[in-house]
Amino acid sequence: MKNTKSIIKIVIILFLFTTAFIPKICFGAFQKPQKAKNGMVVTVSTPASLVGVQILKDGGNAVDAAVAVGFALAVTYPYAGNIGGGGFMVIHLNNGKNTTIDFREKAPLRATRDMYLDKDGNYTPSLSKEGATSVGVPGSVAGLICALKRYGTMPLEKVIQPAIDLAEKGWRLDDRTVAAFIKNLENFKKYPSSYKIFSKDGKPYLEGEIFKQPDLAWTLEQIKENGTDGFYKGKVADLLIKQIKEFGGIISHKDLIKYKPVERKPVISTYRGHKIVSMPPPSSGGIILAEMLNILENYHFNPNEWGSSIYYHKLVEAMKYAYADRSVHLGDADFYPVPQKGLLSKEYAKSIFLKIGNKATPSSSIKAGNPMRYQESTETTHYSIYDKYGNAVSVTTTLNSAFGNKIVVEGAGFLLNNEMDDFSSKPGVPNQFGLIGGEGNSIQPEKRMLSSMTPTIILKDGKPYIVIGSPGGSTIITTVMQVILNCIDFNMDIQTAIDMPRIHHQWLPDKIFFEKYAVNLDTAEKLRALGYKLADIRKSFRILGIAEGIMIDNTNHIIYGASDPRGGGSAEGY
Ligand code: GLY
Repeated sequence: MKNTKSIIKIVIILFLFTTAFIPKICFGAFQKPQKAKNGMVVTVSTPASLVGVQILKDGGNAVDAAVAVGFALAVTYPYAGNIGGGGFMVIHLNNGKNTTIDFREKAPLRATRDMYLDKDGNYTPSLSKEGATSVGVPGSVAGLICALKRYGTMPLEKVIQPAIDLAEKGWRLDDRTVAAFIKNLENFKKYPSSYKIFSKDGKPYLEGEIFKQPDLAWTLEQIKENGTDGFYKGKVADLLIKQIKEFGGIISHKDLIKYKPVERKPVISTYRGHKIVSMPPPSSGGIILAEMLNILENYHFNPNEWGSSIYYHKLVEAMKYAYADRSVHLGDADFYPVPQKGLLSKEYAKSIFLKIGNKATPSSSIKAGNPMRYQESTETTHYSIYDKYGNAVSVTTTLNSAFGNKIVVEGAGFLLNNEMDDFSSKPGVPNQFGLIGGEGNSIQPEKRMLSSMTPTIILKDGKPYIVIGSPGGSTIITTVMQVILNCIDFNMDIQTAIDMPRIHHQWLPDKIFFEKYAVNLDTAEKLRALGYKLADIRKSFRILGIAEGIMIDNTNHIIYGASDPRGGGSAEGY
């Protein structure tokens, strides 16, 4: 009798356990994208997504919302959101115009080609990655205000106010932000201006506590009252330059006054009948994405080959050839003749496709190609926005490393970037992402450092279909590409396309990086048999990118938003 009772008890417990957890496990693995009828904002930070969607509800367009989100992320995602860094914005307007705003940081006027080499010509990575010497002239404030003036509809006071409120009144800290503060506490300790903000007199913040940033609120007020002059001139500029000088940096008032964002023509390519609108140099993102897609367009993917060695072989070979080209042919096109037409040519891609055999080609025997013959024909964050008027905006913005160079400007409350590390300090020597660059990306005064940021909008029949982008330094471009393939070739919804595990190859080092679950034992064995080396998953990238995307079903007028579970954000629609 006692035994029967215990068995019944166990059965009941098991029943409760399974019914309580099975649905959660299933839906956790197959999340549905958020659905909306009017507009959608997807960012890595929920308070920032909510700011953006409120601007859309108030009648603002996608650019208004993008500018509001840009300022809000500087408050709620200090990890990469910023006013002390830079970024890129890709815009599709409902009148059919596609354009981009480049607000990438610049090398200071006093920068020199060999500024990070010692007297024996050896590269000193700490100088380009840490301290005031690593800072590029910030572009975010000028870029956001330029986008608002040219393509927004709301006044600056309206779109910056939510960020001021969040900084002044505070916002509730989530577990990821607290963990990021704690992880970086030792670094912040080196700079009293940072330590006092990201800890409570040395004690770590706790999840759920309200985090206020009064100095940052003051800086945002200066921008609200004076526009770009509120940042690049006056009291904020004085504090910034004082801080830079104190730590031995070379940025001057003249650098700040001279900073201008640039509106550039996007890189336009096609993939299986879709138009891909992405970022031109100084980002390598748009061109390298297009080159990889152009190579892969020559294949027909079988619906069942996703995740197989055959599938990864095709992807990895395309990645290797494109990243080899990146290392030689890409740089700031205002300073270096980037062979853009050749790199984007379908014939050039076909010539690479024809070289790809059934086995791995060692990276040592892959060299950058000669696209000129075809002339005739990072920690970072991304957000995607679509509005009820049919405008789409895709923005990737960065401080480079997590929390940039970790230095908060005393009295002004914002973090500085360490973007100078994206230059090739010594051609042939890798940067923090292991990327190797050439002369095209060498340091020159006022030049913009090469980026991998790939904010992208995909059009189908002339209308926005996918808005996508990601952080992740060198892994950004391959992340964006895999989400696009998942949607277009494998018919996945935007959430599944983002959730699926990813791989990455960047030519050098010659190994496949992969996320947990991306490569199973059988696939790994077959890839090795094809001649591939696999990175040690315990010692390499933990995650590949944090994609934030939107997919628009123009037939049924439904907007789908998906925030990457690798980050901590949300898709907010209405
Ligand atoms: N700092 C990362 C990138 O711009 O690609």
